[in-house]
Amino acid sequence: MKRLLVLALFLIFSGLETSAQVSDAQIEKKIDVLLKKMALKEKIGQMNQLSADAMETNFKVIQQGMAGSVLSITNPEIANKAQKIAIEQTRLGIPLIFGRDVIHGFKTIFPIPLGQAASFDPDLVEKAARVAAIEASETGIRWTFAPMIDIARDPRWGRIAESCGEDPYLTSVLGVAMIKGFQGKDLSNPTSIAACAKHFAGYGAAEGGRDYNTTNITERQFRNTYLVPFENAVKKADLATIMTAFNANDGIPSSCNEFLLKQVLRKEWNFKGFVVSDWASITEMVDHGFCSDNKEAAQKAINAGVDMEMVSGTYVAYIESLLQEKKITIETINEEVRNILRVKFKLGLFENPYVKGNLKEVFYKEEHLKLAEKIAERSIVLLKNKDAVLPLQQPKTIAVFGPLADAPHEQMGTWVFDGEKNHTMTPIKALQEQYGKDINIIYEPIVKYSRDKDSTDFAKARKIAKQADFVLLFLGEESILSGEAHSLSDLNLQGVQSELLETLVKSKTPIVTIILAGRPLTIQKDVEQSNAVLYAWHPGTMGGSAIANILFGKANPSGKLPVTFPKNVGQIPMYYNHLNTGRPANGSELSLNNIPIEASQTSLGNKSYYLDSGNDPLFPFGFGLSYTTFEYGKIKLSKTVLKKDEVLEISFTLKNTGKYGGSEIVQLYVRDLAASIALPVKELKNFQKIDLKPKEEKQVKFILPIADLAFYGIDMKKKVESGKFDLWIGTNSAEGEKVLFEVQ
Ligand code: GLC
Repeated sequence: MKRLLVLALFLIFSGLETSAQVSDAQIEKKIDVLLKKMALKEKIGQMNQLSADAMETNFKVIQQGMAGSVLSITNPEIANKAQKIAIEQTRLGIPLIFGRDVIHGFKTIFPIPLGQAASFDPDLVEKAARVAAIEASETGIRWTFAPMIDIARDPRWGRIAESCGEDPYLTSVLGVAMIKGFQGKDLSNPTSIAACAKHFAGYGAAEGGRDYNTTNITERQFRNTYLVPFENAVKKADLATIMTAFNANDGIPSSCNEFLLKQVLRKEWNFKGFVVSDWASITEMVDHGFCSDNKEAAQKAINAGVDMEMVSGTYVAYIESLLQEKKITIETINEEVRNILRVKFKLGLFENPYVKGNLKEVFYKEEHLKLAEKIAERSIVLLKNKDAVLPLQQPKTIAVFGPLADAPHEQMGTWVFDGEKNHTMTPIKALQEQYGKDINIIYEPIVKYSRDKDSTDFAKARKIAKQADFVLLFLGEESILSGEAHSLSDLNLQGVQSELLETLVKSKTPIVTIILAGRPLTIQKDVEQSNAVLYAWHPGTMGGSAIANILFGKANPSGKLPVTFPKNVGQIPMYYNHLNTGRPANGSELSLNNIPIEASQTSLGNKSYYLDSGNDPLFPFGFGLSYTTFEYGKIKLSKTVLKKDEVLEISFTLKNTGKYGGSEIVQLYVRDLAASIALPVKELKNFQKIDLKPKEEKQVKFILPIADLAFYGIDMKKKVESGKFDLWIGTNSAEGEKVLFEVQ
């Protein structure tokens, strides 16, 4: 044994590389050997992704060696058949990579990413992605088009549902967690699936919150905000692939934006994975008016660095002629094929191309469902709890109403192709199963679906409500009202949902409103009329039992908003990490109704705010209540003057001053008070989930490296600038003690 150990140490320290480095170096050698053998057509084939909706044709294309990937095969037999053709019936037998949108679960569906983000729990988020990978890879899928880490500040944009919200730090932490979950510890493990950070880049800044619309993001905003999650994904999670976005930024479509794809991604970040276009985003460059035809689109995408084309077929159609016309080079093609082969080798597809397909062993496993329930609990945000009406105390009768009380399809949310609604535990099902024996539960939907305009049963609802101790009202959105291409210009509850709430108020029975939606909605009036409000997002397969656990106090809500809730659409864009302007409002400004008649105009003392809705949101980023209360002790700083290479320690006590055990997501924000460019009034720099029993107190400590305060300044160089900084510790982005420190 001892001799073996000595030998191993000798080999390692004698300069021989560790297994990981050898495998990277070996992979490059394998790619060299394979590339040398590949004919041009075979190289072009690797750059072409087919869609699974035409498999009979696809089998032929695969056999001709003209496909490197197929998107959306979910049947292991078909996957193995296609793979067998690629391996046994083509000259070089290069395996296919099968991709799929596994966004927030495959069969076991977790809360939508925006809901997962509300948990502020990267460990749970990573575990959920790991389960998704285990379930998906059993069908042959080894690549998911996730995580979506676009910064989303506009709830009109339906894809905010797929995002981690408005904050670059939170999105970075959770994006890294999702990638680690999908990719596992070793990408060649058969349950590992390559992640695909998307959409690169700035897609969430679509003007007007209208999907696919124009964006106008400056280089500085890209670097200080929109690219931050992608840089973390590449540098901290060994990201395998990236997907280009649909938007044109400053007139340049993302699928041929050389600044993003070459300068930033390859030169600055040294990204070694491969870039895939979005669905037909290459041919869409003709629609953008950026290319005259599909051939030019192929040329520009290839020269910009898009390695693989998703389904639009211009690469197979035009690469040969573009090479002959010297509009692209074979060196570019070789580099882009190399990127694709690198990921295929890392996935172990050459050694292990087939899948067993033991679906029943992994789909909906009890431990998967338990995790789905746990993360759904953690994602639920308590927005209001007047007179501590929650948790419910031994009611005799509860009346359950609303279109989302028993909506197994809607509850799963957007981007669910493989989750089956018959597995969904809806709120009414959970309530009846867990409490139906002891409590009289009267359930009537009254409103059949979220857009329903039929108020026929309102009188019946009022009558039932009068008999009950509490009303549980499940409102929100059908899943199709958020997600891709589903933008809204009005964010009030659809149909007659608000009217139902209004009519129920007349019953005088306390109302707990639970909202299941894919985005922030403008619910100010609904919140005012409810005694308590829970925001459950689209909580996935086990959302119903998670909600029931929260309602009856088996779990204490700890979720925090990952995105600002505006009072109305007119306030949008409204996000916490905004710039101060030269005329920041302080809330004392005249509102619309208190401006005197015939008031004369003045330019003095004016501030930046809305006469009719002020400057504050309905609920700020980071907001979320608990059944208990937490008391924050005074902030102590290890130093108040620091050098740029130092680390600041922040400590304080946190006490649970209520009667329930609970978790508090404590948040650390910073503001650089004067810099070479105007910076946000607050920026989240860290957070921690602190669990406390009733009356328990803990010392909480944050470590803030001063290097973390670096940003791209007036000279477009990333660095920390000397000066004064405000620092907050708080329960959300609008509250908390403020202290000052200085960087020399
Ligand atoms: C879609 C989406 C993208 C998705 C891809 C494949 O249009 O924009 O997020 O991964 O096509 O379904």
